[in-house]
Amino acid sequence: MTANPTVALELDDIQAGALQPRPVPYTGVYQILRLDDRHAGRELLRRLIPYLNSVASFDPKVPVSLAVGLSFQGLKALGVPEESLATFPPEFQQGMAARAAELGDVGENAPEHWEKPLGSKDVHLVVAGLAPDAVLLEAAFRYALEALRDLSGVVPIWQLEVQSAADLRNMFGFADGISHPAVEGTGIPGTNPYEVPLKAGEFVLGYEDETYNLPPIPQPEVLGRNGTYAVFRKLHTRVAAFRQYLRQCAKDRAEEEWLAAKIVGRWRSGAPLALTPDKDDPELGADPKHNNAFMFGDDQRGLKCPFGAHVRRMNPRDSVVIGAVRLHRMIRRGTNYGQPLPPGVLEDDGADRGLLFAFVGAHLDRQFEFIQREWVNDGKFIGTPAEKDPLVSSSDGREFTIPNQPIRRHLKGLPAFVVNRGGEYCFIPGLRALRWLADLDT
Ligand code: HEM
Repeated sequence: MTANPTVALELDDIQAGALQPRPVPYTGVYQILRLDDRHAGRELLRRLIPYLNSVASFDPKVPVSLAVGLSFQGLKALGVPEESLATFPPEFQQGMAARAAELGDVGENAPEHWEKPLGSKDVHLVVAGLAPDAVLLEAAFRYALEALRDLSGVVPIWQLEVQSAADLRNMFGFADGISHPAVEGTGIPGTNPYEVPLKAGEFVLGYEDETYNLPPIPQPEVLGRNGTYAVFRKLHTRVAAFRQYLRQCAKDRAEEEWLAAKIVGRWRSGAPLALTPDKDDPELGADPKHNNAFMFGDDQRGLKCPFGAHVRRMNPRDSVVIGAVRLHRMIRRGTNYGQPLPPGVLEDDGADRGLLFAFVGAHLDRQFEFIQREWVNDGKFIGTPAEKDPLVSSSDGREFTIPNQPIRRHLKGLPAFVVNRGGEYCFIPGLRALRWLADLDT
């Protein structure tokens, strides 16, 4: 179907948590609920809706958001009619655990090793609260807790607290949350002035996407419109293994930092190799106007930023790759969980720490699943079929080529630095859709 490009985005209906950037610093909670009784589930939605902000009502000066997502099993548990359930895409209907082979969730990442209840049919509803500090979070999340009071058919089954580190770095010690796409019609700026804003239909259902079509949306229209999909994954990080590997491959600390930057594609400060290939530039790393203002056009040999570096794989920008980059973009909302491993420690302390990875986009198949399958776990698209993402792909014995002069550097035997402990695919309905769900009379 051809779209009407003049239609404006209904910002007052789209949940703020889907499109608004997270606060910096941040503290937050992800809570999973099981809906044992559809009437109690609907009552919970009715109670929560007044506290969910939309993109239009979100106040960037007080960036607090409470958002609600539902898995396919959750929609079923609410009593959504069969003919409506059948209109959701197959990968969403199957859920993340059933997509394990597609996602590379094998070996120690396989669903049978996931933290319970992740991967089970009990994961129904996810409430995510994010705020700049604990006081504001408590105020926002209190509503979610109060909404649960006296609802015996709704059971909290899992919770994860997330929090930015004091230095705002992720667990591997890198600045995070830098690169974001601009989305047409949202008024939320992107971070790369050289990237043309993406069509809204890439991130919100009911609008024209990058293929100039209106993609099919879940039915009835009131349920699908202004909704989107979110993927969350609890990614445990092996920080000691990362530090040990760098130590083992480098002759000194300076070379360790160089290797770490080549693996990620940015120095720890966030400064991109594309702009400062030879040394870190912390001022550039901390400058949001310039730290993402680049393309790879003048680096077609990968001498500045390797083709296989995490950020270049995840967003090849204008690099020559197999495929159309703009069809595989994502909004990310990753947050740290656990306590950082103290600086300099090379031994694993057994603590659970990592990234609660969160993807938002309207196309699970050609965005998240494609990226995970082709760009994280394969290397054909950049001409290195034997290589995977050196930072986040999750298998041992990996390889990574660093183009360099006079001779390239070839790293071997990279152990897994990231392990998936489980996750799920969620639908993030618009606010009208949530009311429709709350009013179901099936
Ligand atoms: C523990 C796991 C991960 C860590 C530590 C990590 C770390 C990072 C870092 C440090 C950056 C650069 C800063 C930024 O732009 O925010 C980045 C960028 C990015 N990551 Fe990850 N990441 C992880 C997992 C993933 C996964 C699983 C995906 C996709 C399936 C992904 C997709 C991206 C994308 C799309 C970008 C932005 C690329 C760009 O536009 O330049 N990341 N990540």
